[in-house]
Amino acid sequence: MTRLEPRAHELTVGQLAERSGVAVSALHFYESKGLIASRRTAGNQRRFARDTLRRVSFIKVSQRVGIPLSEIKEALATLPEGRTPTVDDWARLSEQWRGHLNARIAQLQKLRDDLTECIGCGCLSLSKCALANPYDRLGEEGPGPRRLLVREAGDPAGGPCA
Ligand code: FES
Repeated sequence: MTRLEPRAHELTVGQLAERSGVAVSALHFYESKGLIASRRTAGNQRRFARDTLRRVSFIKVSQRVGIPLSEIKEALATLPEGRTPTVDDWARLSEQWRGHLNARIAQLQKLRDDLTECIGCGCLSLSKCALANPYDRLGEEGPGPRRLLVREAGDPAGGPCA
């Protein structure tokens, strides 16, 4: 892994790929979807501002925890264009995502901790179902594993996080 020259303010797509660990083809895809942007040289080569590394890292980690690209794009759209985002800019993005991420964390924790319990899915296959979901009473509430779903704060339908 070649360490980037600290004074380098612009990166080639190869440098961006190597330092971020994201394939060049994926960077081209992110650019085609408007998640990142570059300028073109006289020779029509892409040059990315160095702070694109932070955006690509944000995309990579967000995707790793299952957040759809559409939501990642919405979040990145809150960052200013044409200048390097400041701590305050990222704090604003983070604040907007807090509720969503908390719901995801809660969902992951329930998935980790509650699989030995009745999850209210209608299968009635565990002895615990008789107590927790007699005659699949929870099916009247709606589809899915009613006791495993985490409802996102402010979701009037009480639907699970996406
Ligand atoms: S685990 Fe499916 S209904 Fe209880």
